[in-house]
Amino acid sequence: MKVRKAVIPAAGLGTRMLPATKTVPKEMLPLVDKPAIQYIIEEAAAAGIEDILVVTNRAKSAMDDYFDYYPELETRLLQSGKDRELTEVRRAADLANIFYVRQKETKGLGHAIWRAKRFVGDEPFAVLLGDDIMRSKKPVVKQLIEAAERYEASAVGVQQVGLDVISKYCSVKVKPLEERIFDVSDLVEKPRPEQVFSNYAILGRYVLTPGIFDVLENLTPGYGGEIQLTDGLSELCKKEKMVAVDFEGKRYDTGNLKGFLEATIDFAMDHPETGKWLKRFLKDKAKAL
Ligand code: UTP
Repeated sequence: MKVRKAVIPAAGLGTRMLPATKTVPKEMLPLVDKPAIQYIIEEAAAAGIEDILVVTNRAKSAMDDYFDYYPELETRLLQSGKDRELTEVRRAADLANIFYVRQKETKGLGHAIWRAKRFVGDEPFAVLLGDDIMRSKKPVVKQLIEAAERYEASAVGVQQVGLDVISKYCSVKVKPLEERIFDVSDLVEKPRPEQVFSNYAILGRYVLTPGIFDVLENLTPGYGGEIQLTDGLSELCKKEKMVAVDFEGKRYDTGNLKGFLEATIDFAMDHPETGKWLKRFLKDKAKAL
């Protein structure tokens, strides 16, 4: 089993970040100096993935433009000696082979993944959610790929969350296999207290076998009236092996305002141009509180 392709579902409406996301895709909101989706594509590329499908919708064409060449801009940067900017602009366009497909109706994450069926064909593939940004030594998706390849199985990326907030996530029924790796026998999306399997929640990264498409094809709408990927995974793990990887790294949910600000501040603190300045700025602010 070899994972060579990735799918980034980015066709959600981004209602938690309105009004900004009315015309700007939330994946294009900048985290310091790069749009959020670039961090995701960099993670996939760093894990050795070359072919990436982004699932978009009619309001998200800014994403395709961003990963394209822009000759007029590049010529101007070259003429004015802005070499660093030129390198950065080009680097983004050359990160991977990026393909696009539209999800014509916003019917849920499971439906968005199903749109990748033709791109994926008959091989396992990674899924990286467009608003879950990771910071880790080894790319989180690489940690999942290694487990999936070793167990010849689907793999979901999990971390423990507080039991008081598990109702916002997908709760996973797990049994330990080895350090940081579990067998998965069931999952539930946004569980009510009596439905909670564990406080291990899936956080935006998956490696799936093509078996998921047969399941998604026949799925009826679940939580929130949407085709839920979790419902598909719940069926898949009863047919095929699935493991959960308690991944190493910090995850930011940049699809909500607090997560977005947290990522912005953390990234800006580590950025060579802004790090020192921001730390001083925050210290001064804290003194004045
Ligand atoms: P979210 O629920 O986090 O994103 O979906 P959303 O729907 O854009 O956000 P809110 O809740 O309205 O603020 C998880 C992921 O699934 C994608 C989203 O783009 C996000 O990456 N998604 C969701 C789709 O691609 N299609 C859908 O129909 C729904």
